[in-house]
Amino acid sequence: MTKDNIYQDPQAPADFTFNSRVAEVFDDMLQRSVPCYHQVIDMVATLLARFVQPGDRIYDLGCSTGTTLLELSRRMTTSELEFVGIDNSPAMIDKATLKAEMFAKQDTIRFIHGDIAAVELEPCGACILNYTLQFIRPLARQSFLTRLHQALKPGGVLIISEKIICHDLEINRAFIDFYHDFKRSQGYTETEIARKRAALENILIPFSIRENSELLQKSGFSQVETFFQWFNFASFVAIKD
Ligand SMILES: C[S@@+](CC[C@H](N)C(=O)[O-])C[C@H]1O[C@@H](n2cnc3c(N)ncnc32)[C@H](O)[C@@H]1O
Repeated sequence: MTKDNIYQDPQAPADFTFNSRVAEVFDDMLQRSVPCYHQVIDMVATLLARFVQPGDRIYDLGCSTGTTLLELSRRMTTSELEFVGIDNSPAMIDKATLKAEMFAKQDTIRFIHGDIAAVELEPCGACILNYTLQFIRPLARQSFLTRLHQALKPGGVLIISEKIICHDLEINRAFIDFYHDFKRSQGYTETEIARKRAALENILIPFSIRENSELLQKSGFSQVETFFQWFNFASFVAIKD
């Protein structure tokens, strides 16, 4: 796995983009920047095993290098599920396709280059949206989630993981400090942490747990719960009636 040292470079792009340089180091970046990244995938697998039906289609929207679908397809082999990953970064889709070939999963998982806010979705039993809704323009989020609700079959499940903010400023500050401690513990320097934070400003726009839950409810999901939280990261499950 190539190590992420993008923000050691003073010439790194001022605005964060999912370009080929990021795709190259992205697996390392995720593991060292998203607390409990693999634990959340594990919990997603547990939830899906409970809620999807044999033959269901499972979408991973903003699939990046395909890590989640590769893990799900490894674990959920008995119910003939169709796995589809969509991402609008060609470099991410190329890497995901290569990884699927390496693990002989090219017949089980399809990776598609496309904009998840525009692409037509076929009926599905589950949609996964891990750390991606935060990159969709806030004003476009409700209509996007409404489209996901429409694509899901009755009883279908939507899983969302996000960086979150807190409404209480003191708690919010503390959670961000704990997150920066986590990044230091993963070997990132103060300069790397500061540059990456500046690069994500106005690009990654987090909502609170309450705002995300309300958004999901307004998009048609009457049952919404959080199933995981690590300070300023949370995961939600919503079921279509
Ligand atoms: C933080 S990464 C997601 C990580 C991935 N879900 C995982 O858990 O391994 C966000 C991804 O969303 C993709 N993305 C952002 N906006 C998108 C859009 N409108 N359509 C498709 N993909 C998008 C980016 O290219 C990037 O690969």
